[in-house]
Amino acid sequence: MNILELEFIKGFIRMCDDGFNQGWHERNGGNLTYRIKAEEIAKTAGMLDESKEWVAIGTEVPSLAGEYFLVTGSGKYFRNVALAPETNIAIIKIDDTGTKYQLQWGLVDGGKPTSELPSHLMNHAVKKAASNGKHRVIYHAHTTNVIALTFVLPLRDEVFTRELWEMATECPVVFPGGIGMVPWMVPGGKAIAVATSKLMEKYDVAIWAHHGMFCSGEDFDLTFGLMHTVEKSAEILVKVLSIQPTKLQTIQADEFRELANDFNVNLPEEFLFEK
Ligand code: 13P
Ligand code: ZN
Repeated sequence: MNILELEFIKGFIRMCDDGFNQGWHERNGGNLTYRIKAEEIAKTAGMLDESKEWVAIGTEVPSLAGEYFLVTGSGKYFRNVALAPETNIAIIKIDDTGTKYQLQWGLVDGGKPTSELPSHLMNHAVKKAASNGKHRVIYHAHTTNVIALTFVLPLRDEVFTRELWEMATECPVVFPGGIGMVPWMVPGGKAIAVATSKLMEKYDVAIWAHHGMFCSGEDFDLTFGLMHTVEKSAEILVKVLSIQPTKLQTIQADEFRELANDFNVNLPEEFLFEK
């Protein structure tokens, strides 16, 4: 069997393509990682190379020791993933200490996993624990409208959450837990990974000011759908702010409480302050 026929690889490639088609992945922007299930890795028997050197991750993720991840390559373009998966994505294995990885498949023309690997793996570690192993996808995209809003709204969790909840009635149902904000930081290292993963203990969505967004989810559909919903809501807000300096009407705090009641979601009171 060809490894590219495995469902989890097909789903990963489709998500890269979908993200590119949304306009979120200029050049090499964005990255995607998937924590592979044991039964899925079993299907790759004989197709992985266990001989390459072990490379430092740049942070510690002991709870991910021995796990396998499908990841996008650093400097690789999302628009090329579907055309040539084996040169743009990779399967890596984490060592017993959670400090190193080994490239076992892919990136055939050379290269290494995404430069945001520390953020992805620390987010995976937090989400694996918080979701009892259910969350498997971490997705980073350069979502245009969310980035635009980080220049004009206060970089506070309650402000972004509430403004984006108001922009479409389905938003509080899709991200009831809210959104965490990371101020501008140098990307690609441990410091931003620590800041982001701390927020991921509470949220499924984190926004990096003037850079983009991170989403976590159980599968490709849910994680892509979450990114898509938040970005669509940001697009509406950008349009609203462009046509009208103050809103004439909006969804009120009590109306969110009614929605929470009818849709059986918990909307934390911290986001339902009187404005
Ligand atoms: P990589 O090409 O290393 O994945 O980096 C892209 C990016 O979006 C950095 O934040
Ligand atoms: Zn980025």
